Amino acid sequence: MAGKKEAGVAARQMLSVGQIAERSGIPVSALHFYESKGLICSERNAGNQRRYPRYILRQLAIIRVAQSLGLSLAEIREQLATLPEKGPPTAEDWRRLSSQWSEDLETRIAKMVALRDKLTECIGCGCLTVEDCPLRNPDDQAAAGGPGARAFDPQ
Ligand code: FES
Repeated sequence: MAGKKEAGVAARQMLSVGQIAERSGIPVSALHFYESKGLICSERNAGNQRRYPRYILRQLAIIRVAQSLGLSLAEIREQLATLPEKGPPTAEDWRRLSSQWSEDLETRIAKMVALRDKLTECIGCGCLTVEDCPLRNPDDQAAAGGPGARAFDPQ
């Protein structure tokens, strides 16, 4: 019980934008940008300075990973909006968030694997320049399926 209570108190510790920038490795300008886009929220102290609860560090880490996976800020904001407005998100909140993202990530992973595996093969793009194009895309039959590399956007 004591550990959980201490974690709750620590998570609500308020940090300055400089402290958050130092610990997260994210520049102050980017923190302000995230706040302007509604991805994170701060409170103002008596001196009207921004203060962030410590648990925002986890939210920022999640934002950075999501961005590195190609999620747009709008997609990230939509998901983060499902987290509780006040107080640190619970493990259940994070489980729910990751399960919503996992399907999208599975699709991205499948596309990345296809890209890796098909780099030396015909990808049905219409170029007819790769050795096995005559076998896999004779006379650019793939064009019938629509524009683009059909190997990455299967019918
Ligand atoms: S790689 Fe372009 S059509 Fe085969």
